[in-house]
Order: sequence, then structure tokens, then C-alpha cells
Amino acid sequence: MSALVELRDVVKHFPVSRSLGEIVRGRHPAVRALDGVSLEIGASDAVAVVGESGCGKTTLGRLMLKLTEPSAGAITFDGTALGGLSGASLRAFRRQAQLVFQNPFDALNPRFTIYRAVAEPLLNAGIPRAEHADRVAQAFRRVHLPDLERYLDRYPHQLSGGQLQRVVLARALVLAPRFLVADEPVSMLDVSVRAGILALLREVRDDMGLTAVYISHDLALVRYLCERTVVMYLGTMVEDGPTAEIVRNPRHPYTRALVAAVPVPDADQARAPLPIAGNVPDAREPPSGCRFRDRCPHAFARCAEEAPALRETADGHRVACHLDN
Ligand SMILES: Nc1ncnc2c1ncn2[C@@H]1O[C@H](COP(=O)(O)OP(=O)(O)OP(=O)(O)O)[C@@H](O)[C@H]1O
Ligand SMILES: [Mg+2]
Repeated sequence: MSALVELRDVVKHFPVSRSLGEIVRGRHPAVRALDGVSLEIGASDAVAVVGESGCGKTTLGRLMLKLTEPSAGAITFDGTALGGLSGASLRAFRRQAQLVFQNPFDALNPRFTIYRAVAEPLLNAGIPRAEHADRVAQAFRRVHLPDLERYLDRYPHQLSGGQLQRVVLARALVLAPRFLVADEPVSMLDVSVRAGILALLREVRDDMGLTAVYISHDLALVRYLCERTVVMYLGTMVEDGPTAEIVRNPRHPYTRALVAAVPVPDADQARAPLPIAGNVPDAREPPSGCRFRDRCPHAFARCAEEAPALRETADGHRVACHLDN
């Protein structure tokens, strides 16, 4: 199957302000948010991107939506380089690729009614006003907010978190996009409504044949949504494969720690939690070689000398670890 979204050696560094010493020494420090990410996402695939805070998940999502530009590397959507889009071609891309925010309370303009919030993308896309009401109603049905009338004149603060996230999703779906990035779509919501929103995400994805990326630090949560999982660590991909494989047979020591940290009902056997010492290192000065090495219980000399490449170990399963070679 051909890829809908493709990343080739994508790098994203954020320059940070320089100290006097750094200016004198001619150094240009940067947060190395992503360093050489290559990834292909097939049409109608759902990919989970997991990893600890600061590993680059949001940056990756924003790059795929052209909400930020890569420092190096190339990103294509349906065969077209995002770097070359502007004007009409950029607007066409924006209609097809949508973001669902983490915090529904921040995602909507508090001064806009719910109707206006969901109709706004239609307005921006130049869809004739006469079509708006029907399209908004259809989007509301999709997210199971029946009884649209009840919501139309209300403002965001008058809705619950779960209702708001449904409205945010309706807004993302109103232009019938092909690609959706959901960044921690339920982490700000009350536990009681999370399962409902996850089921809804699954349903709209299946119904609309969406290609989707779900970003989360919680593997347990996205494994339910995605057939494929990408594990990130400090700006690099450490493992990529079918979610079931990753959960049953995690190869990278970091993935093993992630899997051990969540209850996995169908795991072959109960795994003792892998101790991983310390915190994620500073992304301005990542360790040489393998970025996980100073927290890895199996690190050996080569890990400090050479960054392990992402290598295919079995059908569709890729791992970046010297132990796996
Ligand atoms: N605009 C920015 N300017 C400077 N640094 C940034 C910027 N955006 C992100 N970063 C840094 O890039 C790194 C990756 O950030 P990112 O938000 O992509 O991580 P994340 O995996 O989404 O984390 P979280 O789970 O906390 O949301 C972090 O070190 C972060 O501080
Ligand atoms: Mg994030």
C-alpha cells in the first residue's frame, strides 16, 4: 500500500537563547526535539506515537500537519512535499489534515457559540453558507451529540469536558478530512468519559476511513485504537511495529519498560517492571550514541560510540538497539 504520509530523515531543532559563554565560543545550542525520524503511514492506517514527556511526540504531530517546519528532512502528504505548499495548495492540505487538541477547554474560542465553532472551518474553506447547517448537523451526528439544537447557542463553558471534546472532534471532522492527528485526546478528560471518547475516535476512524495518528504517553490507551505503534525516546524512534507485537514482544529495553509499566491483559506472562533509572536527559545535550544508554540496564561500550539504526527485525517490526543485532 502506498503511504499517505511520509517522513524522511526529519529533524527539528529549536534554537534556545545563548549564554555569553556560548556566544564567545560560537556555539548555537538547540533543543533537539527530533533527530532523523523516518516513517511511512499508509492510507487508513492508525498509528500510535508513545513515549515519555518531552520525547518529541507533539513536535512530530505538528510537523505532519505543517503547523511547524522541519529543520531538515522532508515530509510528504499523498506524494506532495509539504515544504512546497502555499496559497491554494496549502488551503487544500489544511482541509484534509486536522488536529484534535489535548485540552478541549483551550481548543474552542470561549466567545464563539458551539455552532460557530464547528462551522468556522467551513467558512474558512469557502464552503457556501447555505450548506453549513447541514454539514454541522452531520458532524454532530457523527460524534453522537444528538439534539443539535440544544447545543447551537451554547458557549464552551456551558458544556462538560466530554461534550466539549465531542464538539472539538466535530469541528475537526466537519470538512471530512483524510488525516487526523489526535494529541493526547483524552488526557485532560475525566476518567469516566475517556472510554466513550476513545470508542468514538475508533468509530469515526472506521466509518470515515481516516488515516490517524494518536499521540499518547500511555501505551495501554492507544493500543486499543491503533494497529501500529511507534515508540519515541528523546527525539528518536526506538521501535515501530504492529501494536500487538510491540505489546507481546517488545524488543527495545525502553519499550520493555513501557510495556511493563502498564497492565496488559493478554501478555503471555506477567512481566516484572523493568527498573529504568533516572529521567529523560536534557534534549539540548542528549547522550552520545544511543540516547537511552544511560538509563539502559543492558548498555555496553558500543552504545556510547554509535547511535543504533532502526532495523527491521521481523515483518514490519523495527528496532533501534545494538542488542538486537
Ligand atoms: N516551540 C518550542 N521551542 C523550544 N523548545 C520546544 C518547543 N516545542 C517543543 N520544544 C521542546 O522539544 C522537545 C519535544 O517537545 P514535545 O512537545 O514535542 O514533546 P512531547 O513528547 O509532546 O511531550 P509531552 O508528553 O510533555 O507533551 C522538548 O524538549 C520541548 O521542551
Ligand atoms: Mg506533547
